[in-house]
Amino acid sequence: MSFAPKVVRTSSLLDFKTQGRKFSCLTSYDHLTAGIFDEAGIDVILVGDSAANNSLGYSTTLPITVDELVVFGRAVVTATKRALTVIDMPFGSYEEGAEVALANAIRLIKETGAAAVKLEGGQRSANQIRAIANSGIPVMAHIGFTPQSVNGLGGYKVQGRGDGAQQLHDDALAVQEAGAFAVVLEMTPAPIAKEISEGLIIPTIGIGAGPNTDGQILVWTDFAGLNGTEVPKFVKLYAQMRSDLIAAAGEYRREVEQGIFPSKENFFES
Ligand code: KIV
Repeated sequence: MSFAPKVVRTSSLLDFKTQGRKFSCLTSYDHLTAGIFDEAGIDVILVGDSAANNSLGYSTTLPITVDELVVFGRAVVTATKRALTVIDMPFGSYEEGAEVALANAIRLIKETGAAAVKLEGGQRSANQIRAIANSGIPVMAHIGFTPQSVNGLGGYKVQGRGDGAQQLHDDALAVQEAGAFAVVLEMTPAPIAKEISEGLIIPTIGIGAGPNTDGQILVWTDFAGLNGTEVPKFVKLYAQMRSDLIAAAGEYRREVEQGIFPSKENFFES
């Protein structure tokens, strides 16, 4: 397997880990950014339920539905040629048990064409992961800080500190044993994430988990500087899209008001 496969599959992530080649993941919720990230060689594109905050304006990820994610998923999948596309299972679509989880995973895959689903929870979600994986749908797990449990976790807090470290290790093993092909570690101390990454066969994907996970993921609106709000410590701004767009819109408004736009080259004489 080469370091840059033509199409990234779930097995490619395992190959990357074996080869020690770190891989990159971004979220996307629309056709244009998905195409751009795919062209840039991003390995995994996640149709995250963070679309709830970033596209729909909700204050948490809890309200977004399967129906809504299906729309975002279709837009992303139709733009993606190389990257592995993974779609989140929203809150309420898998917690009840394996049967409900499998039905919703089948819907998400059938109606979007994504290659895999992601769901949150370690030991508590193992039965659901097993049922979905056994049906042939690849499952990415997500442990540590799990945004769908923000109310139960008492806010946006680092997970796995102190006594919590053992639970994190247990969760990581549980999702691997249940058949997950990769696991996201969110907001966990870097040394614990390193131990977990070294101990697991499946690849780990960090967000706020330090430099020693096998891959990294960021929420695209964070990394591109599109949010007006303060970004978390673990985000690096790779672009300043919000200030660029504000400047562009301000310039356009000024030119319209002053009769500068449209000029000769922007309209039809006959
Ligand atoms: O929905 C999302 O954006 C995610 C990432 C934080 C991994 O789950």
